[in-house]
Amino acid sequence: MRVLMSGFGTVGQGFAEVLMLRRDFLKERYGKDVNIVCAMDSSSYVADPSGLCPGELLERKKKTGKVGTKGYQDPLKVMESVEYDLLVEVSPTDIKTGGAGLKNIRYALESGKDVITVNKGPLALKFCELVALAKKNGCKFRFEGSVGGAMPIINLCRENLVGEKISSVRGILNGTCNFILSKMDNGQSFEQALKEAQQMGYAEADPTNDIEGYDSACKVVILANSLFKRSVTFSDVNITGISSITSEAISLAASNNMVIRLIGEVSHDKLEVSPRLVPRGHPLSISGTLNAAQVVTDLAGPITVSGRGAGRIETASAILSDLVSIMDDRKERKCQNP
Ligand code: HSE
Repeated sequence: MRVLMSGFGTVGQGFAEVLMLRRDFLKERYGKDVNIVCAMDSSSYVADPSGLCPGELLERKKKTGKVGTKGYQDPLKVMESVEYDLLVEVSPTDIKTGGAGLKNIRYALESGKDVITVNKGPLALKFCELVALAKKNGCKFRFEGSVGGAMPIINLCRENLVGEKISSVRGILNGTCNFILSKMDNGQSFEQALKEAQQMGYAEADPTNDIEGYDSACKVVILANSLFKRSVTFSDVNITGISSITSEAISLAASNNMVIRLIGEVSHDKLEVSPRLVPRGHPLSISGTLNAAQVVTDLAGPITVSGRGAGRIETASAILSDLVSIMDDRKERKCQNP
C-alpha cells in the first residue's frame, strides 16, 4: 500500500509514528508493507517510490521544521508526479473555504485514489460532493478521526450498529469547551479557564472555532451526513457557543445538581450545537478534555462512547482504523477476484 501524506503537523506526525508502532502488525495481516511514498507539508515535500522512513521524516520535521527536502508551488503537481494508492489528508483545517485539504481530496478522488482524512473543513463544507465523487470513481473515502478523535463514532454507527435505526446522536464534541466548562464547575472564571486551556495546548491561539461552537458544528454536519443521510452543510447548523456562559449560570446549575455542557445534537430533523443542562452522573456530564457521544438506537437502546477527542497518537489511531478497513476490503476483493 503506497501512501501519500498531505500535512505533517501534529496528526500527520502521529500517523508516521503509528505506522512505525504497527509496522509488524500490518505486515503480518496483509503480507506487505504500508509505505509512505510522499510526504508534504505546507512548504516542502519529499518522495521515494520505494518508501520513506517515517523516523527520518519525523527527525527532519523536528530539526528543520519541514518534512521535505524540496519546495513546491502547487501541491496538485506534486500529487500528479507520485504513484500512490491512498491519500492521508491531514493538512490544517480551514472551515471557511476547505483550504488545500479540499483541493487535495478532490484531486485524489478524481484520480481514483482512496482517501482517509481527519480534516473537518472539506467535510463540513462539501461532504455530499466528496462522497459522490468517491462513489463515481470507485474510491474508499473514510474520515473516522474527524469527529471525536480517537473516540469511535462514525464507524461504530455505520458498521457495528448498521442494523439499528438510530434516532439521534448527542455528544460532547469539543475537548477545549469541555475543559473550560469543567474548570468553571470548580470555580474558575471563563477567562481563567480559557487561558489555562491555551497554556495546556488544548485551545488554539485563536480559540474562536472552539468556544463559539464552530468546531462542534463541523462535527455535527459530518455526523448528520454520514449517519442520517442528510445533505447539510456548516451554515445549516444552529450554533450557540460557550463564550457567554457566566459563573452565575454554572452555580445555578450546580445548585440543581446539574452541569452545563456544550452539546452537539443530530437527528433526522435536528442540527444543533448549544450549551445544555446535563444532570450530574449522566454519561454526558463528563469532565476534562474527553469527548463523549450517546447514540440512541431502536433495538440496542442508548449506547454511549467516550474517548480522547484530540492528540497526536490518539487521532492517528482513528486513521489506523480507517486504513485497516480499506486494506481489509482490498484483501477481500482480491480473494473474491484472484
Ligand atoms: N480543538 C478541538 C477540540 C480539537 O478542542 O476538541 C479536535 O477537533
